[in-house]
Order: sequence, then structure tokens, then C-alpha cells
Amino acid sequence: MEIRTDFLVIGSGVAGLLFALKVCKYGSVAVITKSDCEESSTKYAQGGIASVMAADDSYDLHIRDTLEAGAGLCNEDAVRLVVEKGPERIRELIELGAQFTLREGNSLRGSDNIIDVLDLGREGGHSKRRIVHAADFTGAEVVRALVDVVSKNDNIKVFENHIVIDLITIGKLNSGVEIGSEDDAVIGAYVLERGNGEIKSFLSKITLLATGGAGKVYLYTSNPDIATGDGIAMAYRSGVKIANMEFIQFHPTCLYHPVAKSFLISEAVRGEGGILRLKDGSTFMENYHPLSCLAPRDIVARAIDFEMKRSGDDCVYLDITHLEGYRIRERFPTIYKNCLSFGIDITKTPIPVVPAAHYTCGGVITDLYGRTSIKRLYASGEVACTGVHGANRLASNSLLEALVFSERAASVAFKEMKDTSFDILSVSPWDKGNAVDSDESVVVSNNWDEIRRTMWNYVGIVRSNKRLNRAKRRIDILLEEIREYYWNFIITGDLIELRNIATVADIIIQCAMMRKESRGLHYNIDHPQRDDIHWKRDTVIQYRRTVDRE
Ligand code: FAD
Ligand code: SIN
Repeated sequence: MEIRTDFLVIGSGVAGLLFALKVCKYGSVAVITKSDCEESSTKYAQGGIASVMAADDSYDLHIRDTLEAGAGLCNEDAVRLVVEKGPERIRELIELGAQFTLREGNSLRGSDNIIDVLDLGREGGHSKRRIVHAADFTGAEVVRALVDVVSKNDNIKVFENHIVIDLITIGKLNSGVEIGSEDDAVIGAYVLERGNGEIKSFLSKITLLATGGAGKVYLYTSNPDIATGDGIAMAYRSGVKIANMEFIQFHPTCLYHPVAKSFLISEAVRGEGGILRLKDGSTFMENYHPLSCLAPRDIVARAIDFEMKRSGDDCVYLDITHLEGYRIRERFPTIYKNCLSFGIDITKTPIPVVPAAHYTCGGVITDLYGRTSIKRLYASGEVACTGVHGANRLASNSLLEALVFSERAASVAFKEMKDTSFDILSVSPWDKGNAVDSDESVVVSNNWDEIRRTMWNYVGIVRSNKRLNRAKRRIDILLEEIREYYWNFIITGDLIELRNIATVADIIIQCAMMRKESRGLHYNIDHPQRDDIHWKRDTVIQYRRTVDRE
């Protein structure tokens, strides 16, 4: 089946949904999403959205904090843009229906100025309280509001349980010469409908990648199952430029419990005075940084990693019991309820926590309008590398970045859409070659586990040249196996994701091997120093080989 649409949006997190809402007045929009429309990392965001909203705060302070976290690699123009456009986007979310927590005794209706009434949270690395939040379920509230408006819009059609396999490109790729050329353009995507296995061709004038991050490349992660780096992998295969993938952010505090899956304990808990402790109750963060428990995330994660290795303990503890019970339940209702369901009453006992892969700072390179290195392809949100985060993202800057860049992308994409026609376009249907039904799902799950374990053990919080080489050898073998498997068996969602996590693992390792220093989130014991002379630059990679089928 072939479906034509003016705008093809891949992903239904905050980046995809906001872009869809912005462009739908100019043409038809198809939103493709591999699970249901609400499912995304966005839905699980707890802390909130960083933005300068308080009278005692300033753009310069937010910019300074962001640049400091980014360890010399942020693009200052991108940072300034995101910070200065923040309040506008927050106001827009409120107009779209998002209900954020207000300071006690206030209501939005009675106030002319939202700046006066929003409750602002504090998180690590921020010199001011500036986190706009909905208790500890900010992302779910943003998704609720956006999905509500999207579902009422006739110009937007959402295709749930549809997973994009690959982008469709024209240009030199089609002549079989080389990919990654400046003549290439993206004209749509091949999409698998999960229920019935049908592969559809979506043809579009403009395509937005809004597929989120790649936390699932690691064995332990705060991310939901959808975060398999699909957008980064498919962009890479199409020759799009990718950067800075060595900068994987590990969140210091995910719940440690044998049956809890991917549950974050928000940095806002430390923002409200939560203290990290060892098993014997002693504190340790003061030995690592003057800001102690509110030190930047990379420092806290490395400190916990070090303490766990030193003591042999399975976790450390986050203690918020100094706050009154009612206050904890009111400020952190999701965390309170979820921990209680595992038998942990956080009003009475410290929470067992461990670091886990949380955020992909690198990704598909874009300019300040979300344009990628290939024509008619835009990227926004966690899939993108806009230059805002540099070597380490400041807490709660990512929802903000997605909002600002989706608006920016929409502001130029609609014009490009008008100047583009379908006339020259025709596309061959997906070629399934000699694929046969697979009865070897065990191979998929074995490879899946091996990749994630390899990445956790060898390309994690602390790296070395030897570990990176080991990881490279293992991932190369797995990639070869998956490649063979991929073209010989009928394609499934699991296989698409397996191929993508393997590709992203390979990209992360390549970037990590390129960077011969330690900076921000990338820490290599063989190059422990920051090297501003040779390495104050991005690690850019682009797939350029001549390919038949990759
Ligand atoms: P996502 O929200 O991840 O959406 C990606 C979408 O793409 C999903 O709909 C997915 O199904 C779809 N998709 C992916 N691949 C395909 C494919 N092949 N085919 C079709 N669809 C596909 N950031 C903050 O700023 N503040 C916070 O408080 C905060 N808390 C967080 C808490 C948690 C637990 C996590 C995991 C992240 C948190 N973050 C936070 C980070 C932030 O939530 C994400 O970076 C942001 O939501 C990413 O938005 P996005 O739209 O780019 O991607
Ligand atoms: C958190 O609530 O700790 C997550 C914030 C973020 O990732 O920005």
C-alpha cells in the first residue's frame, strides 16, 4: 500500500506531536508511532521543563548553567535560542491545556501573569529554581494535553503500532554509487504495521524524525521499551550526519529492585533536599563536589559507580525522609506510589538506587531550524544533536529543546513543503527478497541481551581503550550475524529494533574511540584529562560506503 502525505512525522513524543500541531494548518500530516500514541519517553518525564520564569532568574544564568554542564561543547547560539524561547513555549503548552503545579493557594485564572504563580522546582546544575512541573508526572501531563488536541484535528492522522523500517531516499543512493551525498533527499519511509505484518510505503514532501533516544542499547536504563535509537540508526543508514554519540547520560538514581523495570527517582528529589547515603547511612557526595548531592549528573553517577565498586554493594540509598510525609506524597505522588507498590515507603525509609542509561546527548546533526544534512529531512527532540547539550545535558533541558526545535522546524518546513511536489516521485514497494518465516526468535533475544550487556560492561560510565576495543569486536560480530538474519527472514518489529540497537551500539563505540580525552559524560581511564587543544569539537560520523543492501 502507498500513502501520500505532505508531512510525515515519525514519533509521537513531545517533539513529534508539537510539530504535527504546528504544520497541520498547511497540509496533511501522518504521525507514525510504533506503540500507542501516548507511549514515549516524554510520558515518563518526571522533573519538568527548565525555563526562566522567575523574577530573580535570567536568560544569562540559564545559559551559563547549560554551557557549564555541556563542558565546552555546546553551540552557544543553540543554547541562547532554546533558553530565550522557553517561556513562549511554556505559555503555549498552558494554552494547549497542560496543567502545571502552581504555588500553594494560586490559580491561573485569577492571575494575569503565569510567572507569578507557577511552582518552580530545583535540579542539579541549575543555579536557580526554574523547573516548571506537574508534580512528578510532567511528561504524562504534557502528553495528555498534546494528544487531546491532536486527536481532535482532522488534518492529522495517527498510525499507531506502525514501526518505520527505513527512510526512502532519492539521489545518488538510487544510482547505487554512494550514500550521504548532497543531492540526496528523503521522500518518505517504509513502515511495518505490527498487527498484520503489512509493509506500507509512505511518501512525503517533508519528513520529521522525532523518534527519541537510545537508552535500550544499555542493559540498565530509565527509558521505556520504545527507546531503541531507531531514528539515529535509520538516518545513519541513509548517510545523514550523526555526532557526539559517546555522550550517553547516566541518571544517578533509578530504583534498584529485583522486579522493578526502568523506574526513575527524579533529580527533583535531591532538589528538595534528598541525600545520597551508603548502606551504613554515611554520606559521600561531599567528597566529590562542592554542590554535594546537587552536583552535575555525570559527577554524581560516577561517584555512585565508584562507591558501589569500592564497597561491593548493589546500590546506594536516596533519603528524603527529612520532609514531612504529606509533603512527599503531594510533591512526588508517582514515586511514592510506585515505591510503595514494591514495599518501600519513601516517607520512612531511604530508596535503594543505582545509575542507569538515561539520555542520548548526541544524534542526528541539525541546524537551528532542525534541518539535517539531507534534504527534506528534519529532526527534533532526543534523536537530534542540535548543539544545546554539548558533552552533558543539563537536567530538564530536553523537553525544552524538543519544544523549541519542533516549533523552529515547523516555521520553515511548511514553506519547503509548499515548494515541493509529488510529481517526480514514485517508489518501489518494499522488496522482501527471499525472506522466509523466522522460527529463531531465540537468536533475536540472545543477540539483544548480548549487545545490551556488552554496552553496559564495556561502554558504560567508566571506559578504557581495552574495553572499547573488546566491545567493538563483539558488536562487529553481532552486526554481521544480524545483517544475515535480517535479509533471510521475514521482518518483524523485534528484528527492526535489534538491528537498530546494534547499529547505534556501533556508532556509540566509534564515537567513543574517536574521542581521546575525558569530557562531560565520556570518561576514559586511558585519557583521563580534558584536552581542549585537540578535542574541543564534535565527533561527527557519516556512513558513506557504497552499498547494495545494508
Ligand atoms: P520520545 O518522547 O521518546 O518519543 C519518541 C517517539 O518515537 C515514540 O512515540 C516512539 O514510539 C516513536 N518511535 C521510535 N522509533 C520509531 C519507529 N521506528 N517507528 C515509529 N515510531 C517510532 N527530560 C526533561 O527535560 N525533563 C524531565 O523531567 C525528564 N525526565 C525524564 C524521565 C524519564 C524516565 C526519561 C526516560 C526521560 C526523561 N527526560 C526528561 C528526557 C525526555 O523525556 C526525553 O528526552 C524527551 O521526552 C524526548 O522526546 P522526543 O519527542 O524526542 O522522544
Ligand atoms: C529527572 O526528573 O530527574 C529527570 C530530569 C531530566 O532527565 O531532565
